[in-house]
Amino acid sequence: MSDPISEPVSNPIVRTVASTQSEKTEIILPNDTNMLGNLLGGRLMHFIDLTGAMAAYRHARTYVVTAAMDHIDFIRPVRLGDLVTLKSSVNRAFTSSMEVGVKVWAENTRTGGVVHVASAYLVFVAIDEHGRLQKVPELLPETPDEIRRYADALLRRKHREAEGARRKKERLATAALDGEGAGNG
Ligand SMILES: CC(C)(COP(=O)(O)OP(=O)(O)OC[C@H]1O[C@@H](n2cnc3c(N)ncnc32)[C@H](O)[C@@H]1OP(=O)(O)O)[C@@H](O)C(=O)NCCC(=O)NCCS
Repeated sequence: MSDPISEPVSNPIVRTVASTQSEKTEIILPNDTNMLGNLLGGRLMHFIDLTGAMAAYRHARTYVVTAAMDHIDFIRPVRLGDLVTLKSSVNRAFTSSMEVGVKVWAENTRTGGVVHVASAYLVFVAIDEHGRLQKVPELLPETPDEIRRYADALLRRKHREAEGARRKKERLATAALDGEGAGNG
């Protein structure tokens, strides 16, 4: 059985979405790109993970780990020399977990044109230095967009749980088949 969930002592009961908002800007260098001069997907995922974690840290004020990164849409390629800006905020807090949304834009440094290139949802889980789950403050959505994202985050959590249960069942079935195979070998 896992340890009971505790709460960092200094945390308030509720935090606003605005207090979690975070931002990061990177210049895309040759090391970040593929042979066509486009930003590597894995590099962008790394930036998304870091920017998402900033919002989660601001909400939880304790250690956080990435539990899931889902629903990434790579809408347009990012080119060598572009400036990439990522913005994140917590969409909803549950018990120890938080859903964070990250949106990414690329800016052409010569023309100044800015395009939306990617969006992603991540789940972070709050833990203490011993890896024990920590309760996070509730999240207060204030604007119409924040209220919509807050409602949608619950639907995505249900979808994630259903998909997680389906994959677990599949793993158990595969393990059982492998076990039969080993017995016959
Ligand atoms: C994330 C982790 C702490 C969850 O621990 P656990 O013992 O499985 O915890 P539980 O099943 O009790 O779930 C705890 C919370 O995490 C959430 N969670 C766990 N796995 C999840 C997943 N795959 N996706 C989304 N949420 C998840 C649960 O919904 C729960 O949220 P709640 O407290 O808000 O209701 C654990 O799986 C872990 O340490 N994973 C590795 C994290 C890591 O190293 N990340 C970097 C990747 S390289």
